[in-house]
Amino acid sequence: MSDFQNAVQVVHDALVKLRDEGVELRVSRDTLDALRHPVVRKKIETPSAAAALPVKAKVSSTDKAPKMAAMRERVLVCEKCTHLASTRTQVVFGVGNLDAELMFVGEAPGADEDLQGEPFVGKAGQLLTKIIETMGFQRDEVYIANVLKCRPDMPAGSTGNRKPTSPEMQTCLPYLRQQIEIIQPRAMVALGATAMEGLTGSVEPMNRLRGRWHEFEGIPLMATYHPAYLLRNQSLSEKRKVWEDMLLVLERLGKPISEKQRNYFLQK
Ligand code: URA
Repeated sequence: MSDFQNAVQVVHDALVKLRDEGVELRVSRDTLDALRHPVVRKKIETPSAAAALPVKAKVSSTDKAPKMAAMRERVLVCEKCTHLASTRTQVVFGVGNLDAELMFVGEAPGADEDLQGEPFVGKAGQLLTKIIETMGFQRDEVYIANVLKCRPDMPAGSTGNRKPTSPEMQTCLPYLRQQIEIIQPRAMVALGATAMEGLTGSVEPMNRLRGRWHEFEGIPLMATYHPAYLLRNQSLSEKRKVWEDMLLVLERLGKPISEKQRNYFLQK
């Protein structure tokens, strides 16, 4: 018996006792009978407050700038990876339009980015800018960020880059996730297998990842080769692969695609 039924029973028994003692009750026999057999209504299921909320709370355009600025302040002084905090010139936060429909995600700042404080400004970055413009966007219309906000440290005297480690990427990923939550792009492009690994945990090679849609927290995610790969492999066929991935992105965004754009890097 439920607590409610118990309570009704107690009230019923008390009223019957009073009646039997000769107290004049202003309660009809029908009401007393009804109390003996209370109708327990089924609890009406209402959606909980959390379930009623949209899966992703929309961030209004006016809230985006202060949210991103506050976050930026926190990231610029981050020291979670002490080895990176002590070797970086500066944190490379991210750049672009907070209302961008499209977001590009790379792996980590290189030497140029570490010096200038902006992602993709070196040679690979210049190629990325060309790709963005060939798609029909200006660089400042999209948003560009990296999984890692600090340049991976290198042995003294070395000029090369190293792949970010998995713990480094996992430590930094919450910052990228917050950037994505603020911007809420309609599509994202992961540049290179390492960016894909940082975003999704996938360790598949790019030739298996590219050319099809993946997802990051409900946002369509295209994987393609890193522009640095194209600088090392200048063949038309590799450029065409990246371009085909970008055509898929344009189609997904509903952008018009000219005949000229469709035919870029096709072998003659
Ligand atoms: N490569 C990246 O992945 N990110 C940059 O910002 C620059 C080069």
